Amino acid sequence: EFPITIRSLSEAIGRPAKTLMTMMFQRGEPLTINAGLDEETAIELSMECGVDLEVRHERDIELELVEKLTGGDDDVEGETIRPTIVTILGHVDHGKTTLLDALRSANVADGEAGGITQHIAAYQVEHEGQKITFVDTPGHAAFGEMRARGANVTDIVVLVVAADDGVMPQTKEAISHAKAAGVPVIVAMNKIDLQGVDEQRVLQELSTNNVLPAEWGGDYEVIRTSATTRQGLDELLHTIVLTAELHEYKGNPNVPAHGVCLEAFRDEGRGVLAWLIVQQGTLRIGDDVLCGPAYGRIRAIYDDHGNELEEAPPSTPIKVSGLDVVPGAGDHFFAMADIDEAREAAESRRQRGRAESLAGRGLPRTLEDILNQ
Ligand code: GTP
Ligand code: MG
Repeated sequence: EFPITIRSLSEAIGRPAKTLMTMMFQRGEPLTINAGLDEETAIELSMECGVDLEVRHERDIELELVEKLTGGDDDVEGETIRPTIVTILGHVDHGKTTLLDALRSANVADGEAGGITQHIAAYQVEHEGQKITFVDTPGHAAFGEMRARGANVTDIVVLVVAADDGVMPQTKEAISHAKAAGVPVIVAMNKIDLQGVDEQRVLQELSTNNVLPAEWGGDYEVIRTSATTRQGLDELLHTIVLTAELHEYKGNPNVPAHGVCLEAFRDEGRGVLAWLIVQQGTLRIGDDVLCGPAYGRIRAIYDDHGNELEEAPPSTPIKVSGLDVVPGAGDHFFAMADIDEAREAAESRRQRGRAESLAGRGLPRTLEDILNQ
């Protein structure tokens, strides 16, 4: 939609508004955050930020598809509170995975504990009677990439900062991604069990990076955690629950299902398996689905414990089988009217994808190149 403001462009492409304003300033056109940009300028700025506009275009097509399918979710009765979706971001080795495992293991029955080592892209826990869905993104780069593709799945970011290391380059990047996403951030000051950590220094570093701790009068709760001793885990979950209650994240189980693919792979026995997050609607076995370049009829749905489900309402992390090819992380999925519609859309995408990759590769230079195409 044009005109677009610096703020909305920043949110759309996952780059800080400040960066965009600096770029405009350098062009000799200083603008405020709410100033409008014309389409051409917005496209140029996105390109400079390395955001692929074909992908943006694709997103617009998909959003239209959502509109068409649902007639605007607002019109359909039955919107209800859905589980909150939380993404954990932070610098390398600051304890994201260990923290996720610790949060999950508190919720896993003993006999199932072995299942934790098995990789899962997302899972759900229950705390104080509220369901929370944690998304295990491979890192902030993937988070930014998914956001740039319009796959804005997260409601809340938990920013993990190791108490012994403080704010590091990837912490700063994670902060700007979270701010660009416009979602609440809760800080987990992790590894608090280590001897001689300097909490004040970490709080200071957070402040200088525009994350002013609540205890210093700011907006950001800083929870002291240890993934190894489990200190602070309940408090972290409690803070997530409070934040969720404040925002009342809603979903509608009564519209055609759509959401985002977190990751996918080919399994020897079961064919293509895709981890999906249902954002709106209810996905059911037998639904005809389009997901990026893939399509197919949903054969099986598994929850994060590997149990088979018949259907999955909003905010449910699931693994599904039935797609014909492996979709990418950040690809949107949609339940379509029938398998023909899904196939046609998938095929036209694949054709376009091939055309683009041919164009991107430039002219073939050797006979071998030609044959390989
Ligand atoms: P990447 O995925 O590589 O970015 O790292 P990560 O943030 O997921 O860190 P990871 O969970 O792999 O933890 C890194 C190291 O820190 C591991 O050796 C963990 O055992 C250790 N660690 C994580 N949390 C804590 C903690 O609370 N206390 C202590 N003492 N060690 C921790
Ligand atoms: Mg990790």
